[in-house]
Amino acid sequence: MQPWGRSLSSEGHEGWDEYAPFYDWENARTLGRRDVAFWRRFALGAPGRVLELGCGTGRVTLPVARAGVRIVGIDRSAPMVARARQRVARARLGPSVRLVRGDIRHLPFPSSSFAAALAPYGVLQSLLRERDLHATLAAVHRALRRGGTFGLELVVDLPAWEEYRQRVSLRGWRRGRGGAHVTLVETVRQDRTRHLTIFDQEFIERRGRQRRRSRFALTFRTLSVPQMVRRLEKAGFAVTALLGDYRGGPWDPRADVWMILARKA
Ligand SMILES: C[S@@+](CC[C@H](N)C(=O)[O-])C[C@H]1O[C@@H](n2cnc3c(N)ncnc32)[C@H](O)[C@@H]1O
Repeated sequence: MQPWGRSLSSEGHEGWDEYAPFYDWENARTLGRRDVAFWRRFALGAPGRVLELGCGTGRVTLPVARAGVRIVGIDRSAPMVARARQRVARARLGPSVRLVRGDIRHLPFPSSSFAAALAPYGVLQSLLRERDLHATLAAVHRALRRGGTFGLELVVDLPAWEEYRQRVSLRGWRRGRGGAHVTLVETVRQDRTRHLTIFDQEFIERRGRQRRRSRFALTFRTLSVPQMVRRLEKAGFAVTALLGDYRGGPWDPRADVWMILARKA
């Protein structure tokens, strides 16, 4: 029995619906906006419409759209997309942003629709099986125009993530509507045979005397930069740069950031 009663055969798109109310709160305290300027520059360099895979709550989508780029975000999680839609409406970004609920393995766009595609923050590591990654790279290749660029970030070295049980990883106030004091209690497990890292998350929200617990698991697949490069090349991309930071510095295996830029050959 796994901690939350789930088996290890879970899908990588699971857990995100339950995570949606906590995603922005947690990310404001972890990655924050460190990668945003990079993605804005990347998207501004594209001569046309841009596709964001796994756009989530719009953390990257909105700043890119505000810079004047026409962007389409796709995400499978309805609660994540609902949050992104609220933000887009509040920001009055109009028709420059389109948000689609859908699966990145089967992109619902005509061939050659986009000048660039981006996959920030380990989105492709939510694809837990080789066939899912293969289907997604083929779908992105189809959706891009010839010469179109594809930028993706891998979360650094997941299998080296220390395993721990029931650790309080974060606590603090979540302000605004639904305001509460929030505590994140986290367990990290490694499935080394399947190259998966599993984060069991328990968010405890306190409002006065009320207390609510939300439990779910997020699973990510380990992929090294060389492994991803091979898969991109097999899918018909030419890799143009490996970057080790958000300012465009070169990658090496000890870099803090793992970014790959490729072009549809
Ligand atoms: C790490 S979040 C990234 C969100 C956003 N791009 C950001 O950087 O903040 C990963 C997102 O990918 C989505 N996702 C995972 N698997 C997916 C799939 N197969 N198809 C579409 N979206 C997926 C999740 O719902 C989640 O919103």
